[in-house]
Amino acid sequence: MYEQVSHSLLNQILDELKPDIRKRDLRHFYTRLGANFYAIYSLFHHLYGAREDFDAQMLRLVEVMASQYLKRDSKLKTLDVKREQDHDWFLDKEWVGMALYSDGFAGDLNGLRQKLGYLQELGVNLVHVMPILKCPQGASDGGYAVSDFRNVDERVGTLDDIASLAQHMRRRQMLLTLDVVVNHTSDEHEWAQRARQGEQKYQDYYYVFDDRVVPDMFEETLPEVFPETSPGNFTFDETMNKWVMTVFNSYQWDLNYTNPAVFIEMIDIILFWANQGADILRLDAVAFLWKKVGTTSQNEREAHLILQLMKDCCQVTAPGVLFIAEAIVAPLEVTKYFGEDAVIAKECEIAYNATFMALLWDAVATRNTKLLNEGIHSLPVKLERATWLNYVRCHDDIGLGFDNLDIIKAGYQPDKHRRFLVDYFTGVFDASPARGKPFASNEKTGDARISGSLASLVGLETALEAGDEVAIQQSIDIILLLHAMIMSFGGIPLLYYGDEIGTLNDRDFLTDESKAHDNRWMHRPRIDWDDAELRKQHGSVQQRIFEGLRKMIAVRKSTPAFADYNDRELLDTKNPHLFAFMRTNPFLQRDHVLVIANFDSTPQSLNLGELPLRGSFEFGGLQDLYSGGSPNLFNGQLVVPPHQFYWLTDQGQR
Ligand code: GLC
Ligand code: GLC
Repeated sequence: MYEQVSHSLLNQILDELKPDIRKRDLRHFYTRLGANFYAIYSLFHHLYGAREDFDAQMLRLVEVMASQYLKRDSKLKTLDVKREQDHDWFLDKEWVGMALYSDGFAGDLNGLRQKLGYLQELGVNLVHVMPILKCPQGASDGGYAVSDFRNVDERVGTLDDIASLAQHMRRRQMLLTLDVVVNHTSDEHEWAQRARQGEQKYQDYYYVFDDRVVPDMFEETLPEVFPETSPGNFTFDETMNKWVMTVFNSYQWDLNYTNPAVFIEMIDIILFWANQGADILRLDAVAFLWKKVGTTSQNEREAHLILQLMKDCCQVTAPGVLFIAEAIVAPLEVTKYFGEDAVIAKECEIAYNATFMALLWDAVATRNTKLLNEGIHSLPVKLERATWLNYVRCHDDIGLGFDNLDIIKAGYQPDKHRRFLVDYFTGVFDASPARGKPFASNEKTGDARISGSLASLVGLETALEAGDEVAIQQSIDIILLLHAMIMSFGGIPLLYYGDEIGTLNDRDFLTDESKAHDNRWMHRPRIDWDDAELRKQHGSVQQRIFEGLRKMIAVRKSTPAFADYNDRELLDTKNPHLFAFMRTNPFLQRDHVLVIANFDSTPQSLNLGELPLRGSFEFGGLQDLYSGGSPNLFNGQLVVPPHQFYWLTDQGQR
């Protein structure tokens, strides 16, 4: 796209670049800058065009992109070019991820490097290493309160350890995912410290107010993320004698993106981590990036423009690097984080599928798929060259962010139904074996979310205590069923460390005063490697889960129809306990897989002939890809055993 004003500015910027930048070989950089410049200029202008120093800020932005390009390792540059050519590479069936804390998983970053073999044994080839940056000694929101964006916390390692981890992972063809906490910093970050000391420049990095006038206006419409432990969205800082915006915890200061200096700092940090060898960057809490009085300050249009701008800038310097949007927001909002258009208004290539996650939990509690079907039915189709991160559990709580309309269509009353789910998973509901805890209960709104490990939420802890083998097997079946869904739905399945061996709730956090108030720590375990060894002992709980997952992952990787090309076809089975969809290989229409899952604890049947299929499916020679056998048929009906699933193909023996 050629546009006069932006291009004359580009020429001017190229003339003004520092001589040390100008002289170097920037061939690829210039091509990409030229291709993206109009988009970058327009977005930057939209956000900051009213400022007198606009041109100077634009120059600074280009300088940052260019200097990081010069620092980028030649191996990474080669990978960039390869990925540009094979631009759909991440949609492939081959990717299976796991999120883990390096300390909880293996002591520290070096420990993690030594355990890569374990992950490969399972089949995991994408690892999200949870926050590793320098953060306060005490409470740090699990590392999401960053004190230094360019240094690793000494409790887990050093920058060299990251370089070595990245190198080892690359050799094993594993992808490294790291966090960039873009929305806020810790109050111990240098910017916050200097703001505290009265430096105006750094006070302008945050939302700082002399009195409560503006904060009170904001509070009229801002929700609370942590109502019990961090009520309100502003914290009074005594040194500064001012109020500062702190949407999450009181020690997490929200960055002010109306200031272009903040945007430029953050791009520099994003590119810094791209250059440390991260393949994917997880951008934290992106829904919160733009604040506006009179709104909830979530999902604002400007937040999307900032992400588009981040993507465009990253494509100039490090085009091989992907973004994950961590936006745990309403189903209709979440797909917007992929961007409006895959070419001209791209945001993040990958987004957490929180909708699917919460719907799966609904199906576990209700044993039916009414809401699951409604919810998936109303999930907007996403962009091309975009994919979901499908997960069952993560380090955060489970939020019941369904669409109220879907809850009503499923035949429930929204508030009551949410209450039931919280009661079910916290074991208040009598018939429930779940051992979760309510998280972030809000007395004003009646909302609550749920903490707890996967195994404890599906009743494994209760079953083990009772020595009830039937209940133990049922919990294992549910664990496998949920994973079968995230492996086949379309997108990258993201396992959560410990779940592969049925790790139960951890109570140690209660003895640590910096964690005791935040029960999300009950599902952020320290792995017991003796326990993990039991995966090799035939018949153990660990072995039954680990082996099931290992097999599922292997099947996923050899099933082209499981790559994500927006091809999922949801099927109405007329049976409220079943969830069914068809996945099709975009390059070979005859190659398809019919996924059918039973969320009930009794067998369910289905008349295959009545399924509303778009294409043809030969019901003669059905084979279940997971078990390798034929599915159960009775009187012409397919029978799905309790808490089981089928991955059916009509291709016979492969
Ligand atoms: C993200 C993290 C969560 C953290 C929050 C604030 O949502 O996943 O753990 O509390 O950001 O940084
Ligand atoms: C809210 C936020 C999400 C965060 C979570 C932490 O759900 O939307 O970003 O991870 O709170 O509990």
